[in-house]
Amino acid sequence: MIDHLPSGIYLSIALSFAVAAVEVSGDSTTNSVPRAEMTRRNFLKRITGLMSALVAATLTVPLVGAIVGPSFRRKELKWATVGNISSLVIGQPTKMKFPFKTEDAYLRETVIHEIWVIRRSSTQVAVFSPICTHLGCRYSWYPETAEFACPCHGSIYSIDGKVLGGPAPRSLDTLPWKLEKDVLYVEWEQFKVGIPQKIRV
Ligand code: FES
Repeated sequence: MIDHLPSGIYLSIALSFAVAAVEVSGDSTTNSVPRAEMTRRNFLKRITGLMSALVAATLTVPLVGAIVGPSFRRKELKWATVGNISSLVIGQPTKMKFPFKTEDAYLRETVIHEIWVIRRSSTQVAVFSPICTHLGCRYSWYPETAEFACPCHGSIYSIDGKVLGGPAPRSLDTLPWKLEKDVLYVEWEQFKVGIPQKIRV
């Protein structure tokens, strides 16, 4: 549980507790007793305050980490197995689906994602996100025109993903992929729509 936050944050919080406690415990004596005349009693008071602060930090920090930690978790990309593509016709876009495990804060689930795969050769493919870069609708491949087209506002893309028409502000988003013995793996990512830059969400 405690590893949800970077160790630097834990250290900062713990030190804050300690400093605050020492300051509070020292206030009642520092103003009335000169530093040089600090008595053994004052010294013990400060040590007691420090120990109390450390105990409080030890008990509190893991709790804070458990509450806010997941929201600090970096979304890590993982290779997802899409499947064997040896049967795909070279040069023909094919929609493929695959299960993808997500973990967002406290929510863990498996969702089914779609991608467009174009097998270029036995070792090369192109993988497109299925999300139109205009406003996020799902587009389709139309073999009769050899184009991708989005039904929402009419964006049209070439087989290479380049914009041929409509309001789409950028080409189709490609996804990282790798092939191992004809098995395709991708890293599922989503990008902001409606802008010319490809920026990960
Ligand atoms: S969402 Fe595809 S054209 Fe608008």
